[in-house]
Amino acid sequence: MTEYHIKGNNALFGELKLQGSKNASLPILAATLLTGSRSVIHNCPDLSDVRQSINILSSLGCECSFENNTAIIDSSNADGVMIDDELMTSMRSSIIYLGAILARNNRAVLSYPGGCELGPRPIDLHLSAIRRMGAEIDDTRGHIECSAGNGLTGCEIVLPIASVGATENIILAASLAKGRTIIRNAAKEPEIVDLASFLNSCGAEISGAGEVTVIIDGVKNLHGTEYSVQPDRIAAATYLCAAAATGGNIRVNDVVSSHLLPVLEYYSNAGCKMNICESSIELSAPKRLMPVGVIKTREYPGFPTDAQPLFLAMSSVSKGTSIFEENIFNSRYRYVDGLNKLGANISVHDSVAVVKGTDTLYGAKVEVTDLRGGAALIIGGLCAQGETVVCDSGHISRGYEKISENLNDLGAEITRY
Ligand code: UD1
Repeated sequence: MTEYHIKGNNALFGELKLQGSKNASLPILAATLLTGSRSVIHNCPDLSDVRQSINILSSLGCECSFENNTAIIDSSNADGVMIDDELMTSMRSSIIYLGAILARNNRAVLSYPGGCELGPRPIDLHLSAIRRMGAEIDDTRGHIECSAGNGLTGCEIVLPIASVGATENIILAASLAKGRTIIRNAAKEPEIVDLASFLNSCGAEISGAGEVTVIIDGVKNLHGTEYSVQPDRIAAATYLCAAAATGGNIRVNDVVSSHLLPVLEYYSNAGCKMNICESSIELSAPKRLMPVGVIKTREYPGFPTDAQPLFLAMSSVSKGTSIFEENIFNSRYRYVDGLNKLGANISVHDSVAVVKGTDTLYGAKVEVTDLRGGAALIIGGLCAQGETVVCDSGHISRGYEKISENLNDLGAEITRY
């Protein structure tokens, strides 16, 4: 158990270099399997999920190294088709290995991915898409056994929900399939664009990534490449919310500002002054925030569900009422109990949370329930009078590299035990 001991009530000031994106690096690492050669991936954040991905790749026969945010993956001998139960369940996004392993080796044996704190996370869309591409799937014996005979075949897939993971899985599977795959109602998140750019730099033929229709013309082989993962838009939003909530002034560098367009207006709503350049965002907060208004989570380019807890924590110290509606995951308010323990006034009714801003939060001991909820509790602790202890069984290090160091550099007082 990790504990973050936070002495609150310090405004954050200064500059920060942003980490690489967790949600882009995970599918890109899986994609290295398809190349059958050596890839060098820079700007890979040092996170437990990234390390688990590298463990999965090693277990499949890749030679891997990971130092100073650069992962080198040689998949020349990656003929493994099976992922160990423990590795599979340790990371929800391990399901993207289904498309990658099948594309590489025409067979894959996986257990169901890790349980999730955000409510049920079905994988039916992943399985039905892979079936449509010609794989036989037996998921009746507690694990998922897939075989694709002599390979997968391109086809048209209409996703009933614009699922990020399913879109990535199809792109991975289709890159080496026979013929053309068309994904309709594809997810449009920037991480999909990064995966497609990586694969295209390996020789894949993918067009339309970031749009509603993605077209993948399968190729016979891919080759290794050198690539830099895009910056983490959710980590950027986290530090900006922390600065806003504490009445601070920070600049986040090495960001792709356009990726944050869906959230930026809400900092302005709260009364923050924003200076937005192509690769940096500066936020200057008033002493007391105004309410953000109404935030409804949606698929990109809508407001990201992963930023909902961050803005909710920030709103809990604003002067007025804000309303949140969560439309992507149905159990995404579990962290709210922790904020209320710090003195916030938040009530939840199904998918809606009503946040009545309070003057002051007070330090207390709180438990992390999930990754972004954990970041919300840290934001709460940064605003609270006295000491807050955030107890975490490992969620925060899944997504944030050096969060306490980064916040301390900006003037926070956090000790990690
Ligand atoms: C990814 C992100 C996660 C983010 C989410 C939504 C990674 C590693 N994780 O998760 O941080 O919160 O996108 O932006 O990139 N669904 C089904 N059946 C399926 C697949 C999904 O019903 O087979 C539903 C889910 O339950 C959810 C919705 O579709 O309600 C969206 O999920 P999805 O976009 O797939 O999220 P992930 O890819 O798991």
